[in-house]
Amino acid sequence: MNIVRTIADLKKDIRHFKLDHHSIGFVPTMGFLHEGHLTLARKARTENDTVIMSIFVNPLQFGPNEDFERYPRDEERDIKLAEEAGVDLLFLPSVEEMYPEEPAVTLTVHKRTSALCGLTREGHFDGVATVVMKLFHLTEADRAYFGKKDAQQLAVIHGLVDSLNVPIEIIGVETVREPDGLAKSSRNVYLLPEEREKAPAIYRALQLVKKSVEAGEADIALLKEKARRMLEEEGGAEIDYLEILSYPELEPADSASGTIIAAAAVKYKNARLIDNIILPVKGSASCSAQ
Ligand code: PAF
Repeated sequence: MNIVRTIADLKKDIRHFKLDHHSIGFVPTMGFLHEGHLTLARKARTENDTVIMSIFVNPLQFGPNEDFERYPRDEERDIKLAEEAGVDLLFLPSVEEMYPEEPAVTLTVHKRTSALCGLTREGHFDGVATVVMKLFHLTEADRAYFGKKDAQQLAVIHGLVDSLNVPIEIIGVETVREPDGLAKSSRNVYLLPEEREKAPAIYRALQLVKKSVEAGEADIALLKEKARRMLEEEGGAEIDYLEILSYPELEPADSASGTIIAAAAVKYKNARLIDNIILPVKGSASCSAQ
C-alpha cells in the first residue's frame, strides 16, 4: 500500500492508474477505522482495479461546539487496517494541504438537510458536500463507497452527484453491527460501560418499527410513539430525534408507503449516536434504498 500526504503525490499515482486504465474505487473516511469502514474497503476491493482510501478529519463539517479536536485519531492502527483490507493508496492530507487558505467557494446543500441531523448540525452537510466534492475531483474515482449508517449523508451525496452531474457511481453499503445490534461507530469508544450496555436499545427500537410495518401498521405517529417509548424505557439516553420519513427525500411520511427511513439519534454523556433502518414498504412501488 502506498501512502501519500500531498495532493501532488496523489495526482502522480492517479496518473499511473489512469494510464493503466484502472477502475478506481474510493472510500472517504475520517479515520479511526472500524469494521464499517473496512467493509466499504473490502467491497471496493472486489469491484475495482484500484482502491483509494482517504483519512481526513474535515474541520468544515464540525460546528463550533462539536468534537473536531476530540475526534478519535490513530494513524498507525489505521494504516495497518487499511492495508489489510486491500487498500492500494492511502491519502492522508493535513488540514493545510486540503485548505491552504479559506476556500473561495464552498457548497451549500438545499435539500434533504432540514430533518434529522441537519436540524441541529447547521452547516454540517455543506462541509461534507464540499470536502467530498474535492475528494471526488482529486481521486478521479469511478465509484465511491458510503455506509448506510449515515443515511442522511448518503442521501445528500446522491443529491450532490445528481445535481452537479458528477461522473461517479455512489454505492451505499449496509451498516455493520456489533453482535448485540449496536451500529459500529468511531464514537462508540466514548460510551461508559453502563451506556454501552443500554445502547443496543437504539437498534431494537428501529427493529420494532420494521416489525410493526411488516405486520401491516402504517400509522406513522403510532409507529414513532411505540419506538420512542421503547427507547425511553431501555436506551438510558436523551433522545435527540426519532423520526420516520420518506427516503431519500427525507420528507414527512404520512403513512408507511414507498421507501421510508426510521432514524434515531441519542445523546449519551460523551457521545451522540445515530442509527437507522431503510424500509421498502411492502405492496407499494418503492424505489431501492440508495
Ligand atoms: O462519513 C464520514 O466519515 C465523513 O463525513 C466523510 C464522508 C469522510 C467526509 O468527511
